[in-house]
Amino acid sequence: MKLNQNCYVNLRELEGFAGEKLQQMTFDYYAGGAGDEITLRDNIEAFDRIRFRPKMLIDASQLNMSVNLFGTVIDTPSLIAPMAFHKLAHDEGEIAMARAAAKANTIMVVSTLATASLEEIAEATNGPLWFQLYVYRDRQVTIDLVQRAKAAGYRAIVVTVDSPVLGKRHRDVRNLFHLPPSLKMGNFSTGLEDIPEQTSGSGLADYIASLYDQALTWKDLEWIAGLTDLPVLVKGVLRYDDARMSITSGARGIVVSNHGGRQLDSTIATIDALSEVVQAAEGKVPVLLDGGIRRGTDVLKALARGATAVLMGRPCLWGLALDGEQGVFRVLETLKEELRNALILSGFPDVNAITSDLIGE
Ligand code: FNR
Ligand code: LAC
Repeated sequence: MKLNQNCYVNLRELEGFAGEKLQQMTFDYYAGGAGDEITLRDNIEAFDRIRFRPKMLIDASQLNMSVNLFGTVIDTPSLIAPMAFHKLAHDEGEIAMARAAAKANTIMVVSTLATASLEEIAEATNGPLWFQLYVYRDRQVTIDLVQRAKAAGYRAIVVTVDSPVLGKRHRDVRNLFHLPPSLKMGNFSTGLEDIPEQTSGSGLADYIASLYDQALTWKDLEWIAGLTDLPVLVKGVLRYDDARMSITSGARGIVVSNHGGRQLDSTIATIDALSEVVQAAEGKVPVLLDGGIRRGTDVLKALARGATAVLMGRPCLWGLALDGEQGVFRVLETLKEELRNALILSGFPDVNAITSDLIGE
């Protein structure tokens, strides 16, 4: 029996449904990771290894699921992670994603590599948006993007630091990953907007190798933080020393991320890296986490280890592919409902007051 694609009951089932709908090149690009996909799998398996020690007879009739990030209060501690090329999934692409985020009252982080311009996305919604920044070798590109994001009302800049080159994604190499001629990157118009079909390898890998700055250092982060009065977060931190460097270089938030297992394979699972980053942050800046969030209990595990909030990636793309804005909204609601359930059952009804003793060793 073939299940109706809208009959999924949890987010782990979604990938299979989306796989039936999307073209192979798109599905593989979205679903895949680098190398042997060890980190891709481990992001999820590491959550599965963690066990709770729930507390009983705590009044859980009043829940608090909202968190405050730089003055923006959102309904649940989960955001939409920045992801490239939404229009490969659905004609309305990033616009549909942003509208779903607004409806769920959460933050969408818009990728530099969006298939709509950051202005179009901002105009399509009143919801809170952050902008994810890739640093091109041409520094004027970076300056322009940061200024445009500020002018369009974005509330934070998320600098991704784990991608000076692309990870070795064998699925994309096999599929000769490219953008169809009808799709452009909406933020650019001067030759940076295409990834044409080529005769070998991943077009995205070549694009990034030729345009991104492989010489970036913490000094450049300091420079970016000085370009704007918006809070700057660093995405891709996995170690104590890098967390310290983030803060001394002017970051006001840290995203613990291994890019969903898409960059350096065999990198530590994000939930396993979280505690040392939280320790390094000393409560001075919020620490967020992404990678493998599929369950309300995953969110709870991250919060218990000290994250202020999490970001979810692929399931949002699967929702978009299946049913546009509605599909994404349903994904966000599913996670929220699972979190609600987990908060009540764990005896920790306030997301801002979850302590590490919820987790057993
Ligand atoms: C990403 N990610 C990403 N990150 C980023 O900073 N800029 C980007 O443009 C992209 N693009 C992108 C495309 C696709 C298809 C995926 C799946 C991921 C990484 C993303 O922000 C996030 O770190 C991971 O996706 C989180 O892992 P999960 O939730 O997908 O397991
Ligand atoms: C990716 C890049 C674009 O993960 O961030 O595909």
